[in-house]
Amino acid sequence: MISYEEKNKILSAVCIEEVIGDFVELKKSGLNYRGLSPFSEEKNPSFIVSPIKKIWKDFSSGKGGDVINFLMEHERLNYVESLRYLAHKYHIDINEKVGGISFNEKDRKRKQQEKILYLMQDYAKNFFVHQLFLTQEGKKNGLCYLINKRGFKMDVIKSFELGYAPVSWTSLTRNALKKGFKLQQLISSGLTSYRRSNYFDCFRQRIMFPIHNLSGKIIGFGGRNIDDTSRYAKYINSSESSIFKKGEMLYGLFQSKRNILKENFCYVVEGYTDVMALHQSGIKNVVSSSGTALTINHLRLIKKFTNNIVIFYDGDYSGIQATLKLIETILDHHMNLRIVFLPDGEDPDSISKKYSHTSIRSVLIKNSYHFISFQQKIYEKFYLDDPINKSCFTMKILNGLSKIGNVFQKVFFLQEAAKILNLRKEFLISELYKMQRKKQNLQKKKESLMQKIPVKRQERKKNCLFKQDGSPLLLIEKKIIKLILIYGHKKLKKEGGTITIGEKLLQFFQKKKQTIRFLSKKHEHLFSTVCSHTKNKKSLLDGKNNEPVHSLSTWNLKKMGFSYDEDHIEQYLDDLLLRYQSLYISHIIKQKMDHYIMNKNSDRKFFLKTIMDLTHLKNEILKKLHRYV
Ligand code: CTP
Ligand code: MN
Repeated sequence: MISYEEKNKILSAVCIEEVIGDFVELKKSGLNYRGLSPFSEEKNPSFIVSPIKKIWKDFSSGKGGDVINFLMEHERLNYVESLRYLAHKYHIDINEKVGGISFNEKDRKRKQQEKILYLMQDYAKNFFVHQLFLTQEGKKNGLCYLINKRGFKMDVIKSFELGYAPVSWTSLTRNALKKGFKLQQLISSGLTSYRRSNYFDCFRQRIMFPIHNLSGKIIGFGGRNIDDTSRYAKYINSSESSIFKKGEMLYGLFQSKRNILKENFCYVVEGYTDVMALHQSGIKNVVSSSGTALTINHLRLIKKFTNNIVIFYDGDYSGIQATLKLIETILDHHMNLRIVFLPDGEDPDSISKKYSHTSIRSVLIKNSYHFISFQQKIYEKFYLDDPINKSCFTMKILNGLSKIGNVFQKVFFLQEAAKILNLRKEFLISELYKMQRKKQNLQKKKESLMQKIPVKRQERKKNCLFKQDGSPLLLIEKKIIKLILIYGHKKLKKEGGTITIGEKLLQFFQKKKQTIRFLSKKHEHLFSTVCSHTKNKKSLLDGKNNEPVHSLSTWNLKKMGFSYDEDHIEQYLDDLLLRYQSLYISHIIKQKMDHYIMNKNSDRKFFLKTIMDLTHLKNEILKKLHRYV
């Protein structure tokens, strides 16, 4: 926690155009500064910073705010991280507290050690860069390999800050010791090894790939052997330390993050050279988990920038296996997924050499598939038409389908799967339903074992694949009828007079009669019965009416505990009607989708337009609803 006083101190020291100027090229324009939007591709600068008002506005994306908002939006820092960043930039000492308690001595020491680790990695990076460009050995072994053998250009080598570790056993360690770094520190940073009272460099005769964290600091290295016939490992990486955790970093994210934001999707490739090769081809929204399986932490990192992932692993057996394993993890995190699959088993490195800058983009897009069609391709390529293989394939697809959260996507993917598997959609739905039930039962058992309490019978509703058609809608219909039954006579203020709740409801449904009808016939009947009373201004519960109100007994009036007080009844009513409308639209959307799926001759364009219009309408209603939340 940063104290209130410290926060003010930081903010008053900040010069907004200076902070933003580190990320966006700004030019003075009258009282303001102007630059190209960092959030979209634009040719005419529409990004404005006002030093007087201490705010910024990006007219192309509509984003804007103060300096903290900028760091949060652009650098994806949270509030406290932004303050910390600014404090660091303006050399303001902050005495951060955790839960009100100052950092204790141990934390301070840890911070100090981390600071040294960062310094050391930075020192090593400069050392390796120097070796690559300015020594005979580096130029001959390193640069030659990168440029002639691998086809990398100088600008990409420089922007990724590649270096070279010489063949000598001790040169980095010796130089670092001379600089004043301690041997113990060098060992814990993973740069130096110590055995039988001798120290030696961990990386020797290798191309060095520095790994940056999100803010651009070096946290570790990957080193590639330049001799493919050598007995040593092709790659070695820095050992894990408090600043370098392989499961929590993505190679290339620092260099790619802005482009990931702009393009709103991210390629995930296998290795260091793949990231660089794609950058060289102008594809700059790409990261790599450096040979380790993509973890949940990696996905969280990507999610800071985009929800859309395109996997582009090597086209060999292990690349495909790794991709298949990843599909469910990504779907499980409700991220949108496509997979590049190239016919000749190519990888990002080879493809970037095969196609020109201008064509590579469309080649990749043309050859990227959603998870079902990707799995189909694999199935067709590697498995003959064997029923057992096919059933495995079907289970995989069902597993994938069960992870999809978005109901529209679920419907479309189901439709796709039914087509590919040549199975009826209804059959898939029922299998999916069974699968989901099994999973939930398993989960329940697990939970009950953990808590050692008996499993309560869950509501059946929760087991449904889709929310039961109209059920929340039916619930609101019930509420509307309860409302009119109990408070139908209650007067509400209205411009130029009063109106009763009953009249208001009647007006609502009469006005909307074209589009909104009660789902349940029983509700429709009850409502019209009640309304005819309302029109006659009779109280409904005085028992004197002659209408057949037998069905009212099933309503269990005693249990009608309303969760609002009478003063807020109007707000409750408005809220209820808005919710009713939004659910009703969802219901119609679902109906239209079912209709579209079932009819081969449906007009796709018209269908999409209708769905978009309805979704827009629903969003408008949801916006209004938030007023009341
Ligand atoms: N990797 C590793 N250790 C290894 C092999 C691989 O850490 N012994 C990681 C590296 O991050 C590497 C990635 O896995 O970049 C992918 O491995 P691979 O495909 O073998 O290497 P490439 O990156 O394709 O390298 P190159 O193009 O030089 O063959
Ligand atoms: Mn590779």
